[in-house]
Amino acid sequence: MKIGIVGLGYVGLPLAVAFAEAGHGVVGLDADSRKLEGLAQGHSYVEDVPDAVLAPLRDRLRPTGRHRDLVSCEAVIVCVPTPLTGSREPDLTYLTDAGTELAKVLQPGQLIVLESTTYPGTTRERLAPILEESGLSAGRDFHLAFSPERIDPGRTDYTVKTTPKLVGGLTEACSERARDLYAEICDEVIVLSGPEAAELAKLLENIFRSVNIAFVNELAQLCDRLGIDVWEVVDAAATKPFGFMRFDPGPGMGGHCLPIDPFYLAFKAREHGFYPEFIELAGKINQAQPAFCAERIERALNSAGKPVKGSKILLLGVSYKAGVGDTRESPALTIARLLRELGGDVTYHDPHVPELPELGLSSADLEPALAACDVAAIVTAHPTVDYEQVATSAPLVVDFRGVTRGIEAKNLVRL
Ligand SMILES: NC(=O)c1ccc[n+]([C@@H]2O[C@H](COP(=O)([O-])OP(=O)(O)OC[C@H]3O[C@@H](n4cnc5c(N)ncnc54)[C@H](O)[C@@H]3O)[C@@H](O)[C@H]2O)c1
Repeated sequence: MKIGIVGLGYVGLPLAVAFAEAGHGVVGLDADSRKLEGLAQGHSYVEDVPDAVLAPLRDRLRPTGRHRDLVSCEAVIVCVPTPLTGSREPDLTYLTDAGTELAKVLQPGQLIVLESTTYPGTTRERLAPILEESGLSAGRDFHLAFSPERIDPGRTDYTVKTTPKLVGGLTEACSERARDLYAEICDEVIVLSGPEAAELAKLLENIFRSVNIAFVNELAQLCDRLGIDVWEVVDAAATKPFGFMRFDPGPGMGGHCLPIDPFYLAFKAREHGFYPEFIELAGKINQAQPAFCAERIERALNSAGKPVKGSKILLLGVSYKAGVGDTRESPALTIARLLRELGGDVTYHDPHVPELPELGLSSADLEPALAACDVAAIVTAHPTVDYEQVATSAPLVVDFRGVTRGIEAKNLVRL
């Protein structure tokens, strides 16, 4: 088969690789010419796709900026961003732009699949009419389906191949085409009644995480008041072999998905006069967590007789989660800004993030930075950092990830 992928980001590039590795020809289309140039030279910008993986696929994975290269594809999968606007409403401009361009080259018999996370109804009500501007009818002249991407960057125990794939087509024939397409790269494909169920299933997965993370973050704030170690409590509850699923507190939620996707559903719900409480409440608590953490650093400095103003504050880990370099919506950025506003001299160390243009900083060398700081805050706990060394080398350590559990030291404060 020849497959087109529109949007070669964290989702699109691993997908393109999966199809190419399965022996298919892949046309990878992206609007970012720097990404295309990098790929043409065999350089990947996605950590889960090392350069060495791209090298043997050169003949099968062709990066392009031209939509007409999609004409010869049997299937085209759309993986463009779905962010929020400034007023926290769905921003579908990337999707509508991609759809408009795709409509100009759409061919009878092609299968189009949307993978971008979005609210239920997007595929049928938004994407289909745009594609039909081609003069072709969705479900009759071309097939259309939604299939959510469930990738978790940095995770190695589950891959595109081993994570069951959900598909929902506009018609039964659309679903069957989508099922056959993904059966080429996934061990299990689950066909749903339509795109709406598939769109909402993805949102349920992410909102489930958002709500539970908010709940345990709120518990961490309460434990702080009560003087109880939240990590001991979570560890204890997690010994129950049934009826409990572990979520860890932290500095707040980041990434392209969890802080954003729930508001897609809240928007759709409001259109129907329904105001979902869980989503808004979880969003409120999770958004407030970085401010709570900045204040925790302020209190720790205060206990050491130091004001934030003029203190050297070292943030350890600035990506939104361990093992990856993605800083989108990272709580570390908010913590850094809040402490800077108070006059703190903020620096950072992150082996995955060499530069942080948002703050005008580069990653500092760990040992001298630990020796020079007034406080080191563990914001994202990359597994390659030695936290015993952190605890012994820094004068004061605030741990938002619980990785210093088991270390007893007077200079150590945990969330
Ligand atoms: N990153 C994740 O972990 C993850 C997981 C599951 C689902 N998703 C969802 O997948 C979608 C894509 O996310 P991502 O993280 O891959 O985003 P990304 O920003 O990493 O990649 C999107 C790519 O699309 C390109 N693009 C934008 N507009 C385009 C257009 N009109 N034509 C062609 N290319 C265009 C961008 O240049 C970029 O390379 C989003 O809806 C996201 O919510 C992401």
